[in-house]
This record gives sequence, C-alpha cells and structure tokens, in this order.
Amino acid sequence: MADEAVMTEIAAAKAAMAVMPDAGLDLMFRAAHTHNGFLDRPVSDALLMQILDLAKMAPTANNSQPLRVSFIRSAEAKAQLGPLLAAGNRDKTLAAPATAILWADAQFWQHYPRLAPHMKDPTGGFADNLDGARAWARMNATLQAGYFILAARALGLDCGPMGGFDKAGAARVFAPDGMREALMLVNLGYGDPEKVRPRAGRLAAQEMAQIL
Ligand SMILES: Cc1cc2nc3c(=O)[nH]c(=O)nc-3n(C[C@H](O)[C@H](O)[C@H](O)COP(=O)(O)O)c2cc1C
Repeated sequence: MADEAVMTEIAAAKAAMAVMPDAGLDLMFRAAHTHNGFLDRPVSDALLMQILDLAKMAPTANNSQPLRVSFIRSAEAKAQLGPLLAAGNRDKTLAAPATAILWADAQFWQHYPRLAPHMKDPTGGFADNLDGARAWARMNATLQAGYFILAARALGLDCGPMGGFDKAGAARVFAPDGMREALMLVNLGYGDPEKVRPRAGRLAAQEMAQIL
C-alpha cells in the first residue's frame, strides 16, 4: 500500500513538472510586453547566442530551419542600420544593447542532407524554384521568429520587435547575396518598465477559435 501511495505521489510530481509554473507563464506571456527602451545593463554575446540555442528547437516544415539572424552591436553596424530605420524606431533602436535582424534564407534547402535526411530529393525541389523557396522560408522563419522572442523572454531578456524599416535596404547592406529576406528587427536588452506602452486589448480565445 505504502508503495502505491509513493508511486501516486511521484506520478503527481512528474505531472506537475510537465507544466510550466505560473512564474514562467508570467515571464513569457502574461507580464511580457513589447519594450521601447532598455536599462543601461550589458547583454553578453553568449546570452544572445543562447536565444538561438533554445529557438532552434522550433518545429519547421521538413525541419527546414530557414531563420538566420544578424545581431547588430558594433558602432559600425549601427551606423549602417540607422538610415534604414523608420523615424519612430530610430532612436530607441540605436540605443538598444542589441538589435537582431531576423532573416528568411531562401537557400535553407542546401542543408537538407543534414536536416532532412529522409527526403528522397535532397533539394526538396527548390533548386529551380526560387519563388517557392522564398515563400517556404518566409513562413517557417516567421514561425521561428516567434520562438526567438519567447526564448529571449525565457532567458530574462526583453524584446522590441519592429517591422518599420527598409527591408530591401537591409538586405542590400547586410545580406548582399540576394537570398535573404528581412522579416523584422528585434531590439534586445533589459527593458525599462517606464517606457512600456499601456497594454492594448487582446482578442479573447472565443473570438479567435471555434471548437468543431
Ligand atoms: C512584426 C512586428 C512588427 C512591429 N513593428 C513595430 C514598429 O515598427 N514600431 C513599433 O514601435 N512597434 C512595432 N511592433 C510592436 C507592436 O505594436 C507590439 O508588439 C504590440 O502592440 C503588442 O504590444 P505589447 O507586447 O506591449 O502588448 C511590432 C511588433 C511586431 C511583432
């Protein structure tokens, strides 16, 4: 009997560990905000790379993993990014500890022999279908971008995602091979709570979903 009680207790403990504790849900979702200003607190290169060490586990179609990232940190790289930013995004971005440019790489399929060894055609049919590769990359890298933001939050960082910049210009400057499409920027650092905008409404689950 005692053994059975212990087994039940262990099973319950295991079950509890399979659910993120409330503090984690708050950190990653409920209390998380888009940040517009950051504290004067350093963020190491190693921590930035840790974001990808988590975000890389995102599911992608055919395990294609088309997300690529440029972390803009140096004065030189910031000087190149500055003129590409929408006016309302410029000052806060140049002041952020780091800004990630998230790219969708249309040449993702070149890694298929390693990432998708089950595929009969190791090019996935994309070698002569650049438009198809771009569409595939855009969808899957955008999914990875969501994971990128969540991973950063899980590591205690705050994010300021932005679409207001010259995307074609960013590709010309930072990815001149023409194979990468800029999806968004994400400012990264430890957010200044005083610069957060008030939370706007969210659609309720019932407005977003139907159970059929
Ligand atoms: C793809 C994307 C593009 C965005 N573009 C901008 C932008 O150019 N400038 C800006 O200030 N905020 C931008 N935002 C921030 C959103 O307005 C913000 O995430 C949203 O209002 C939710 O705010 P909250 O996280 O504080 O609730 C963008 C967010 C995303 C995800």
